[in-house]
Amino acid sequence: MNKKGFIFDLDGVIVDTAKYHFLAWQRLAKGLDIDFTEEENEQLKGVSRVRSLEKILAWGNKTISQDLFNDLMGKKNEEYLGFIADMDTDEILPDVPRVLNVLKEKHQPIALGSASKNARTILERVHLISDFNAIVDGNDVSKAKPDPEVFLIAAKEINVQPEDCIVFEDSVAGVTAANTANMISIGIGSKDVLGHANYVFKDFTEITDDFIKSLIEN
Ligand code: G6P
Ligand code: MG
Repeated sequence: MNKKGFIFDLDGVIVDTAKYHFLAWQRLAKGLDIDFTEEENEQLKGVSRVRSLEKILAWGNKTISQDLFNDLMGKKNEEYLGFIADMDTDEILPDVPRVLNVLKEKHQPIALGSASKNARTILERVHLISDFNAIVDGNDVSKAKPDPEVFLIAAKEINVQPEDCIVFEDSVAGVTAANTANMISIGIGSKDVLGHANYVFKDFTEITDDFIKSLIEN
């Protein structure tokens, strides 16, 4: 039986939390008199908390003290945690459980590769934590996506060569990271944004069981 490694990003791939990150950053930016568009927000997806705030400050041409920077990072996370406090299985994106089940039936290793430091909390809340053979998150990496570090560590943890790994990603930075890691990238979202992925699907409802099986066999 072939063994491939299936690595999932979390926010915007498994759960519908990308909107909460956006809302939390937007509120914080407003307090600094900085406005940013949904298009600019695409550049924040997949990007670490620190790097996201640096980008927002650069868009608004603002320099702030390290103390204020740390304070704002804490505030953003508090706001975000408020949004996800009541999270349950309803927030799992459509057909993610079906795809996970196909992979489990076929005994394929499954890993998480997320920039979020809240990843474990979220996976526990939506009762998916036990589906993952390895979890690599924002607490385990020193380099943020588009650096491939998170996916390379995940591949190592599930004991699969990078070229035998398949990554599901909704962010520009994450698709770049997967490509740089020499993995197959599957973009979840729009072709206009994720055109650099090997495959792009609007969401998991478009991904058939046969397509997953073909990835395992090829
Ligand atoms: C994910 C999201 C980003 C978020 C980052 C850090 O990759 O796509 O929007 O900034 O994780 O998340 P955290 O929960 O640690 O702030
Ligand atoms: Mg994401």
